[in-house]
Amino acid sequence: MSNVKLSIIYYSQTGHNFQMAQWAKEAAEAAGAEVRLRKVEELLDTAGAKDNPGWAKYLEDSKDVEVATSDDLIWADAVLFSAPTRFGDMAAQMKFFLDGQGGPWSEGKLANKYVSAMSSAQNNNGGQEQTIHAIYTVMMHWGAIIVPVGYTDDSVFAAGGNPYGTTGTATREGFANDIEGAVRHQAKRLVEAAK
Ligand SMILES: Cc1cc2nc3c(=O)[nH]c(=O)nc-3n(C[C@H](O)[C@H](O)[C@H](O)COP(=O)(O)O)c2cc1C
Repeated sequence: MSNVKLSIIYYSQTGHNFQMAQWAKEAAEAAGAEVRLRKVEELLDTAGAKDNPGWAKYLEDSKDVEVATSDDLIWADAVLFSAPTRFGDMAAQMKFFLDGQGGPWSEGKLANKYVSAMSSAQNNNGGQEQTIHAIYTVMMHWGAIIVPVGYTDDSVFAAGGNPYGTTGTATREGFANDIEGAVRHQAKRLVEAAK
């Protein structure tokens, strides 16, 4: 059997979801997947990064990451999304990418993908679960097979116990909660499900 093809599609402004996506990529490759790591298109004027060191660092760190296209969805057996929480919902950049998929969706090219989602927010209860649900709602419209993380590993409890998907509490230094293990577990679990 050929390897599971996994696209990890994320948005990040200050690097947290990029870090999560990178941990997920490592874990998915260790589980035998062929992985495409892709960022969605930035809609903000990046000139603003000169006043935001975290943003400037992220732009530099991610400059070689390719921008996600419809083909990254069509190609994949499984897709892992990661998006910051913005006012209790997914960042608009991710929604813009999803809303751009009407063509392949109408041709049935997005059905039956194994999917899962992650998020981050500044606060412990800042709407992360809503963000993941919002992504999963779109996935139901696509006829995806949603793979929530559940309470399937101790790492989920260590990360704060979100069964819908791993969620990080973003700080300037990194994360206030211990999420690396849960991210890796979620990615591996998605690959195993797609297998
Ligand atoms: C416009 C805006 C809205 C935000 N809304 C929320 C929110 O509703 N709840 C929260 O806890 N954090 C909120 N945040 C903080 C972001 O979730 C946080 O910066 C993000 O998770 C960091 O991810 P990144 O480093 O990958 O960009 C908001 C940030 C911005 C810029």
